[in-house]
Amino acid sequence: MQLHLPFTRRYISLTIAVVLAAASLPFLPAQPALALFAVAALLTALGLHDLLQRRHSLLRNYPIAGHLRFLLEEVRPEIRQYFLESDTDGTPFNRSNRSVIYARAKGQLDKRPFGTQLDVNASDFEWLNHSIAPCTQVETDPRIVIGPDCAQPYSASIYNISAMSFGALSANAIRALNRGAALGRFAHDTGEGGFSVHHRQGGDIIWEIGSGYFGCRNPDGTFSPERFAEQAREDQVKLVEVKLSQGAKPGHGGVLPAAKVSAEIAQARGVPIGVDCISPARHSAFATPIELLEFVAQLRERSGGKPAGFKLCIGLPWEFLGICKAMLQTGIVPDFIVIDGTEGGTGAAPLEFTDHIGVPLRDGLMFAHNALVGIGLRDRVRIGAAGKIVSAFDIARTMALGADWCNAARGFMFALGCIQSQHCHTDRCPTGVATQDPARQRALDVGDKSERVARFHATTVEALGEVVAAAGLAHPQELRPRHFSRRLDLTVAQFDQIYRFLGPGELLAGTDDPRYRSTWALARADSFSPAG
Ligand SMILES: Cc1cc2nc3c(=O)[nH]c(=O)nc-3n(C[C@H](O)[C@H](O)[C@H](O)COP(=O)(O)O)c2cc1C
Repeated sequence: MQLHLPFTRRYISLTIAVVLAAASLPFLPAQPALALFAVAALLTALGLHDLLQRRHSLLRNYPIAGHLRFLLEEVRPEIRQYFLESDTDGTPFNRSNRSVIYARAKGQLDKRPFGTQLDVNASDFEWLNHSIAPCTQVETDPRIVIGPDCAQPYSASIYNISAMSFGALSANAIRALNRGAALGRFAHDTGEGGFSVHHRQGGDIIWEIGSGYFGCRNPDGTFSPERFAEQAREDQVKLVEVKLSQGAKPGHGGVLPAAKVSAEIAQARGVPIGVDCISPARHSAFATPIELLEFVAQLRERSGGKPAGFKLCIGLPWEFLGICKAMLQTGIVPDFIVIDGTEGGTGAAPLEFTDHIGVPLRDGLMFAHNALVGIGLRDRVRIGAAGKIVSAFDIARTMALGADWCNAARGFMFALGCIQSQHCHTDRCPTGVATQDPARQRALDVGDKSERVARFHATTVEALGEVVAAAGLAHPQELRPRHFSRRLDLTVAQFDQIYRFLGPGELLAGTDDPRYRSTWALARADSFSPAG
């Protein structure tokens, strides 16, 4: 039998509260009764509030009890993570990935017993093809020279900290990352929020210049060459990077709300305190591929000859090929390009952008690599890559597909103690990593966490050495697509058999690949719009 009590049901919990309150009255002033009465009175007030408010229909139908739902929603990620998740579950990073990072960061045992938990017969399963004769003299600190022809070339580690601003991350997190980078001799990207006091812990800096030109802007928000030169010439700055887009939110600007623009953040960004801090969706310093390259050349020159390049998530393919045409036309070649994948992380972004806008890392990386090979300039431009690269296998595979080095953002957040609670956008990060709340970030001990950051880097690079040696190679740059295979339903293919790789100068000679040929025809050096 079904009960139809639409009206009375709403009041059940409220009634219980009132009855409890009334029942406790005769016992007053005994202490337990007083407490009970206080609780019942509070519940009654809450129930009345729930009934009278108009925002949540759930609470109007289920006063008091409805609050349980909000509470459970709040702790759902934690319940799932602690009680329900298997080792291969959990997104964006599964438990297995996270545990290895934690273990490596803490210097604990990172080995696994008993064998793989992965389904090696599943379609899309990938592996490295090892050699019968592993290399015995592998490079233990593989590095790559960026901007070899610049006045101040930079010898970079092949694994570095990807862009994350002071603002998205706490001051203590930034300090720990930079001190970790100093301990481990690798680079730390500032993110677009400027080169702050917290970054000045001695670690090599990649100074990222976003569309807000934070730290190098005029009061009207345009780029200030003079302010740029002041900081870019500091010894700690090793590379200068123009941010065109980021994989998690390409083509989307950003706002740091006024309430979060503290004195410290205002100082780092060169903006007024307590005023909304806007990152426009596009740059004001350039509007065409040629102008972009001229801007890069200007940064290189004003920094005193430091390598300069740009970071982007690939989108409309003729735009990137337009930049390639501009390189040929002007003779200006960026020292590096960082490719970010749509799978990349962010402090906050709309769901449509994180899920469905921008090319995933693997496709974007191969496209950029092919384009540079195809115009005969690949040996002059170094390519960095970012997008869920947290293990030695991830680095090796990404380098085989065309990257010269890799960056990680969230990998290093885990090394700082991030537990993937996914509260970055609420300012309520439980581990003090992605918050500006002074009380929360105090929990993050800079000394201890900087050592973890350095250890995570060192042990991952060490593991990469073992992986590279197993392939019979001495340096990760020797990895090629043929070293990796993938299961495709019932067959197996090496990456060089799956993907199309252009030959040197093939775009210039007129490729027979229809996709590249038609896109090359659309690309323009003088405009991001397609030809015709
Ligand atoms: C909290 C957070 C803040 C970020 N801020 C920036 C930024 O300021 N500039 C930028 O270019 N990318 C930013 N990113 C993107 C990362 O630099 C990186 O490209 C992307 O997350 C992919 O790397 P991952 O998968 O290792 O996290 C941010 C990512 C995170 C998680």
